Amino acid sequence: MSLLEVRNLNVSSGALSLVGDVNFEVDAGERVGLIGESGSGKSLTALAIMGLLGEGLSASGEVRFDNEDLLAASERRRCELRGSRIAMIFQEPMSALNPTRRIGDQVGETLRIHQNFSRRASEKAAIELLARVEFAEPERYARMYPHELSGGQRQRAMIASAISCDPEVILADEPTTALDVTVQRRVLDLLDRLVDEEGCALLLIAHDLAVVSEVCDRVVTMYGGHVVESGSVAQIIDEPHHPYTKALLATSRALSVTESASGADLPSIPGTVPSAGQFPRGCPFRDRCDRSVEACVEMPPTLTEDTRTLACWNPVERVERVSDGAR
Ligand SMILES: Nc1ncnc2c1ncn2[C@@H]1O[C@H](COP(=O)(O)OP(=O)(O)OP(=O)(O)O)[C@@H](O)[C@H]1O
Ligand code: SF4
Ligand SMILES: [Mg+2]
Repeated sequence: MSLLEVRNLNVSSGALSLVGDVNFEVDAGERVGLIGESGSGKSLTALAIMGLLGEGLSASGEVRFDNEDLLAASERRRCELRGSRIAMIFQEPMSALNPTRRIGDQVGETLRIHQNFSRRASEKAAIELLARVEFAEPERYARMYPHELSGGQRQRAMIASAISCDPEVILADEPTTALDVTVQRRVLDLLDRLVDEEGCALLLIAHDLAVVSEVCDRVVTMYGGHVVESGSVAQIIDEPHHPYTKALLATSRALSVTESASGADLPSIPGTVPSAGQFPRGCPFRDRCDRSVEACVEMPPTLTEDTRTLACWNPVERVERVSDGAR
C-alpha cells in the first residue's frame, strides 16, 4: 500500500466530465511527475486530492492517504490533514496568498493552526523557513505584503508555507516555473532533500520535462483528463509507447533546442487541445495522432497494465523508438 493512492478519480462540473478514471500512487520517499499539455487535468487532479476544488466542481472515486479515503472524510478531517500532513504548492501564488497580510504572518500560520505555535514562535520559524527557500534578507521580506514581492519571491514564500509543518505528501503544481534558473535549481534541490531526508511523497506537476526527468522516479502522462501512460522515468522519458507522450517529449526537446534561437517558431504538437466536453469520440487524441487506426475512432482505448500502464490501440513501435533516438 502506497502513502498516497488515487483510485478511479473523477472530477466533474455538473454533467461535464473534466477528469476521468485517474489512477496512480505515490510512495513515501518517491517523486512522481505529472505531465501533459495545458488543460489536461493536472491541477484539477491535485486540487481534488487536497479537497480544494472550486465551487460547482465535484469529485468521486478514492483518494487514499495513509489508507484513509479523503474523499469520504469530513471537511473537518480534511482541514486537519491539509497543511500539516498533506501540502500543496499552488500554480498561482497570488491566489494562495492573502494580499492584506504580511508574508511572515502567512508563512507561520500553518504552524499556529496545526502545531500550536505562539505568534512569536511562528514568526521566528517563518523567518527560518524564508531563509530555507533562499530569501537573502528573510526578516525584511517577512514584514512585506505579497504585492511587494516579485512573482518568483511569492512562489518561494508559498513553498516556505507549504513545507512549514514537514508534510508527508507534497503536491507541487509548477513550483519552479516562475523562478530563474539558479533559484529553480535550489528549490528543486530543497524538494529533493525533503523526499530523501524526510521520506516525503512528492507529486511534481511540471511542463519542463527535463526537470521531471531529472527529479522524478516515475511519470504519469495525462491528456483530456485521463491518464494515457505511466511508468518509470526510464520507460516514459526514454522509451515512450504512447504517441501523445512521444509527441510531448519531442516538443519539449525541440523547444529546449530552439529556446535561444531568436525568431524561431516555437515547436508544438499539431492541432490544439479541445475544450472539455469537445474531445472526439473514441480516443481523445485521435484528431492529432499520426498513428490513428480504425479502432481509435470506434472506442476509447482501454488502459493495459504491464510494467507500465498504457491506453492506446496502436502504440509506438520499438523500431520507431530506436530510430527516433530517444533523449
Ligand atoms: N472551475 C472550473 N470549471 C469548469 N472547468 C474547469 C474548471 N477548472 C478547470 N476547468 C477545465 O478543466 C480542464 C483541466 O484543467 P486543469 O486546470 O486541471 O488543467 P492543467 O492540466 O492544470 O493545465 P495547465 O497546464 O494550463 O495548468 C480544462 O479544460 C479547464 O478548462
Ligand atoms: S489510441 Fe489511436 S489515436 Fe489514440 S493515441 Fe493510440 S494510436 Fe493514437
Ligand atoms: Mg494547472
